[in-house]
Amino acid sequence: MSDDSFDLVIIGAGPGGYVCALRAAQLGLKTACIDKRGEPGGTCLNVGCIPSKALLHASEVFAQAQHAGDMGIKLGSVKLDLEKMMAYKQSGIDGNTQGVSFLLKKNKVEEIKGAATLTAPGKVDVALLDGGTRQLSAKNIVIATGSEVTPLPGIEIDEERIVSSMGALSFDAVPKHLAIVGAGIIGLELGSVWRRLGAEVTVVEFLDRITPGVDADLAKNFQRVLKKQGIKFMLGKKVTGAKALKASAKLTLAPASGDGEEETLTADRVLISIGRRPHTQGLGLEAVGVVRDSAGRIETDAHFKTNIDGIYALGDVISGPMLAHKAEDEGVALAEHLAGKPSHVNYDVIPGVIYTAPEVAWVGKSEEELKDAGTEYKVGKFPFTANGRAKVNGTTDGFVKILADAHTDKVLGVHILGAQAGDMIAEAAVAMEFSASAEDIARTCHAHPTLTEAVKEAALAVDGRALHM
Ligand code: FAD
Ligand code: NAI
Repeated sequence: MSDDSFDLVIIGAGPGGYVCALRAAQLGLKTACIDKRGEPGGTCLNVGCIPSKALLHASEVFAQAQHAGDMGIKLGSVKLDLEKMMAYKQSGIDGNTQGVSFLLKKNKVEEIKGAATLTAPGKVDVALLDGGTRQLSAKNIVIATGSEVTPLPGIEIDEERIVSSMGALSFDAVPKHLAIVGAGIIGLELGSVWRRLGAEVTVVEFLDRITPGVDADLAKNFQRVLKKQGIKFMLGKKVTGAKALKASAKLTLAPASGDGEEETLTADRVLISIGRRPHTQGLGLEAVGVVRDSAGRIETDAHFKTNIDGIYALGDVISGPMLAHKAEDEGVALAEHLAGKPSHVNYDVIPGVIYTAPEVAWVGKSEEELKDAGTEYKVGKFPFTANGRAKVNGTTDGFVKILADAHTDKVLGVHILGAQAGDMIAEAAVAMEFSASAEDIARTCHAHPTLTEAVKEAALAVDGRALHM
C-alpha cells in the first residue's frame, strides 16, 4: 500500500471519528483520521463537553467557596480571576487533545490536519493546514464531521454581543445580564456557569417547558431548583428579532402562540442555543451522491453505510442524540463491522446528562413516552431529602425515579435529579443492558452512606416498600 492508500479514511477527529480510528487500528486496518481544526477531539474536546465541564466545575467550586463558612471553613472574601479560570479551562482542553494525538500515534493511525473533500467513492482530497494538498485513496471512508450551531433566522451571531456556545465559553468579563435563547442543555449549563459567576440570567424558551425530551416531572422540578438559584425563565416566547447595540443587545419577543403583545428584553450579552445541525458543508456530498434527510442528516443503514458503497457516516452528522458517547459507541461498532466482527449500538440505553448543580440524568423511557406507547408501568420515587449522605453533603435537592413494567417489573427508565446524577446513571444503564427488574436493583447491596442508596430505595419504592421514607 502506498503512503496515500488506506483501508480506512475517517473525516473528522471528534469522539466519533477518533474512537472509530483507534478501534479500526487495533483491529489491524491501516487508518487515517483527518480534521481541519488543527487539534483532534472535535467539538467535544475543543469547544463542547470539555471546556463547558471545566467552567461548570470551576464556577461550582467558586459558588461553594462562598458558602464554605456553613461548614466552618473561613476563607475571607472569595474573588474571581476570570482570566485564570479561562486558562484553567484551556489547560483541560490541551491535556485532552494532546492525549488523543498520543493515542492516535500509539495505535499507528495517521493524523492528517486539513479540510477533506470527497471526490469519488474511495477518493478523498485534503487541503492541508500547512499548505499543499494530498489525494488519498481508501477501501472505506467514514464521514464523522459532527454538527454546528443552528442559527436563528434573521439574527446574526457575531460572537461578541450575540454569541453561540463558542462565545459563551470565552467571555472576557462576567456579563451583567445574559439573555439565553433556548432552555435546552447548552442554555442551562452555560447559564448556570455565568449565574454562579455573578450574571443575571434570563432564559427565553419557545415551549411552555424547559429541556424538551427530558421526563416532564424531572424537568419541572429542575426548573424549580434553577429558579431558586436565581435563573429567570420566560417560557412560551419566541424571539422575533435581535439587534446588537454598542454596549448591549435588544431582543424582541412575542408569545409563541401568536396571540398577544410583543415585548423587548435588553441584555449585555445574548446566547443563542436553540439546537445544533449536521455539519456537511464543503464535503462534496452532492458530487458523490450521498443522500441526506430533510433535516440535513446523512442517511445510513443499521451498519452506518450511506447509499454509496464504501462510504459510511456516524455521530452528530447522522440521526440520534447529539452526544459524544453515542458517537463513540457508533465509532467502535462501525470499526468492528468493517473488520468483519459482529457489532451493534443499543439506542434504547443511551444515558443523557445535564451537568448543572444538581445534575439531571436519565436513561430509557420517560413517563410521557410510556404513556404514548400505551405501556403499563409502575413508578418508584425516592427523594434525596431522605438520603443520609445527601443530608450531610447539603445536596438534598432532587429525587430518583424508576419506571418499571407493571407486569414484568423490567426497568424501562431511570430519571435522576440530584448531585452526581451523571455518575449514578451508569448503574441504571448497566442494569438496563442486562434487562434487570426493579427487584434486581432493590436486592443489590449498595454501599452506605452513598447517594446511590437512593437508587436502591427508588427500586424498593416500585414495589411500595422503600425503607427510609
Ligand atoms: P464533532 O465532535 O463535531 O467532530 C467533528 C470534527 O469534524 C470537527 O473537529 C470538525 O473540525 C471536523 N470536520 C468537519 N468537516 C470536516 C472536513 N471537511 N474535513 C476535515 N475535518 C472536518 N456531548 C456529551 O455527550 N456530553 C457533554 O457534556 C456535551 N457537552 C457539549 C457542550 C457544548 C457547548 C456543545 C456544543 C456540545 C456538547 N456535547 C456534549 C455534544 C458533543 O460535543 C457532540 O455530540 C460530539 O462532539 C459529536 O461528536 P462527532 O465526532 O460526531 O463530531
Ligand atoms: P437543545 O435541543 O438541547 O435545546 C434547544 C432549546 O431551544 C429547546 O428547548 C427548544 O425548544 C428551544 N428553541 C428552539 N427554537 C427556539 C426559538 N426560536 N426560540 C426560543 N427557544 C427555542 O439544544 P442546545 O441546548 O443548543 O444543545 C444542542 C445539543 O448539544 C444538545 O441537544 C445535545 O445533544 C448537545 N449537548 C449535550 C450536552 C450534554 O450532554 N451535557 C451539553 C451541551 C450540548
